[in-house]
Amino acid sequence: MSQLQYEELHPEFGASIRGVDVSKPLTPELTKEINAAVDRYSFVCFPDQSMDDDRQLALTRQLGNPEPSHTSVGKTEYFGTIGNVQKDGTVLGSTHKKTIFLTGNNMWHSDASFKPVPAFLSIMCAYETPAEGGVTMFVSLRAAYDRLSPARKAELDPLITIHDYVFSRSKVAPDAVSPEIAASLPPVRQRLVRTNPATGAKNLFLGSHVREIEGMSPAAGRALIDGLTEEAIQPEHIYGHAWQPGDVVLWDNRCLLHAGAAYDADRFRRYMRQTRVSGACSTLEEAA
Ligand SMILES: [Fe+2]
Repeated sequence: MSQLQYEELHPEFGASIRGVDVSKPLTPELTKEINAAVDRYSFVCFPDQSMDDDRQLALTRQLGNPEPSHTSVGKTEYFGTIGNVQKDGTVLGSTHKKTIFLTGNNMWHSDASFKPVPAFLSIMCAYETPAEGGVTMFVSLRAAYDRLSPARKAELDPLITIHDYVFSRSKVAPDAVSPEIAASLPPVRQRLVRTNPATGAKNLFLGSHVREIEGMSPAAGRALIDGLTEEAIQPEHIYGHAWQPGDVVLWDNRCLLHAGAAYDADRFRRYMRQTRVSGACSTLEEAA
């Protein structure tokens, strides 16, 4: 019998889980239960945890292979900082290039969907959070797929999308991506509809990194993606997570979209650390 207490966060997905200290090594039973919770709820939050980078990396390794950051070419870095506070405790204001670059996260996306093997989990530990703003919004693309008619599902099921990091980041600033990073991240093909291998549940797989759909004009493909996204992100389908220090959140990039919301980087401090667990394979190699 599980010792964990679940509280559902939204009718379509998401749970807050108490009764476990994720800063300590997990038993095989707990690891299994957490993986099952990810498959069922897509978003799980463990509040009031006491973490640091070493504990976060250890947790990441217990859930799979840590994914190296795509913005550090030539060295392996597993952590990204979300927020304006730097490692030395100093703060970057709203006009700093790094702060502006992070506003790319305010478009609806799935983390690292532009990689040949897209990310499975994102793991975020919150240390300092703004008193106002900075909520991260999530929607379930499984629920979005389930709402489609059978005819629409049949039409979308075989489609292949092109995800392109340079395309999505060019909306933040034309020179947001260095030529070196651009060269390391060529566009990749992904399925528009993917299937959870453990449960068989299907979901859409799209977001800001999708440049086009194979077999369609770029404009028509992007219009189809925009329409599906618009249906997915209607207010009643959104769960907005208001981060608290001590939150450890896992979210399943295979079937969720998320988008950051602005906060005043000149008034508030924010320090959150993110790692990711790699996916198993390209979506093209997944069973349909
Ligand atoms: Fe993200």
